[in-house]
Amino acid sequence: MKAIIYRSYGSPDVLRYEEIEKPAPKDDEVLIKVRAAALNPYDWHFLRGLPYPLRLRTGLARPKDTRLGVDLAGQVESVGKNVTQFKTGDEVFGCGRGAFAEYACASEAKLARKPGDVTFEQAASLPIAGLTALQALRLGALGGKGQIPQGQKVLINGAAGGVGTFAVQIAKSFGAEVTGVCSSRNVDRVRSLGADQVVDYTREDFTGSGKRYDMILDSVANHSLSEFRRVLDPKGSYIMVGAADGGGRWMIGVLARLLEVFVSSRFVGQKLVMMGAKITKEDLTRLGELVKTAKVTPVIDRRYRLSEVPEAIGYLEQGHARGKVVITM
Ligand SMILES: NC(=O)c1ccc[n+]([C@@H]2O[C@H](COP(=O)([O-])OP(=O)(O)OC[C@H]3O[C@@H](n4cnc5c(N)ncnc54)[C@H](OP(=O)(O)O)[C@@H]3O)[C@@H](O)[C@H]2O)c1
Repeated sequence: MKAIIYRSYGSPDVLRYEEIEKPAPKDDEVLIKVRAAALNPYDWHFLRGLPYPLRLRTGLARPKDTRLGVDLAGQVESVGKNVTQFKTGDEVFGCGRGAFAEYACASEAKLARKPGDVTFEQAASLPIAGLTALQALRLGALGGKGQIPQGQKVLINGAAGGVGTFAVQIAKSFGAEVTGVCSSRNVDRVRSLGADQVVDYTREDFTGSGKRYDMILDSVANHSLSEFRRVLDPKGSYIMVGAADGGGRWMIGVLARLLEVFVSSRFVGQKLVMMGAKITKEDLTRLGELVKTAKVTPVIDRRYRLSEVPEAIGYLEQGHARGKVVITM
């Protein structure tokens, strides 16, 4: 089969489009014929081996696993002997190993059934970004019950990106009053996703506006914690999921923020959290339903072929994708 592989860390130039052996599923895994895959910043972190601490997991000198890509949607080709919930021919989506390939394996726990009227491209765009948006909004919900009360004021910093375009729509579907923060060229798009207000960060600094929010979902981390807290209700939640610089080489900024969040959250009434998404079948299924019922429509910015993954990653790495970047088989 054809796949994108990398044998050393580096820029998208180190990626190769090669013929390799089709993977075999482990006992609890499913082999999927990939129909579409999607990119996340995660992928270029793996490609670059950055921030460096990531290499403790991916291989110190070179990548232990030469395959790249996580988000995928496709058809089940075969199943491991312990798999009970899927069979050959089922249409699924979720997180796999080496999604930038014609075939990839995934644990059955990290897959959900693709609703019939959701396209493979839409389904592939959902997993990491959609789960992050859904779980962050739930975590930040007032009252801690995972339900956003009607009219809760939610600010999405990074509203035009993969996570942000889902977050705006999911927050609206929960009944929140949503403010999206993005650059000038994305203002109309973010408004069209349902945002009640849009702040163009090239013209206005929302941290100086004097407005207060019940929740801030932050995927950019371009302000200090005290600036975010200034526009947060005294009982509000700040949920950080990412940073525009991706943590740099050593994650100094992210670690400093983590420490600040940890210490501050002990002394203030506001909820301050840095969150990592969990891949669960339940939440994947929930996302599939949100798309099926048209409460959420994935925003697909660009489509690339499998052989064009290097260009696709190069584009995403610039940090200004408008929704999701998808690989179509
Ligand atoms: N914690 C987790 O589990 C988790 C999961 C997924 C992603 N993440 C992280 O979350 C972050 C976002 O991921 P993503 O998939 O949404 O990335 P993305 O698709 O590459 O989007 C990045 C977005 O950031 C926006 N942006 C850049 N500077 C901005 C600023 N100053 N103010 C507001 N928006 C700004 C860009 O919009 P403009 O073009 O309008 O500037 C762009 O749309 C990344 O750091 C990623 O690693 C974390």
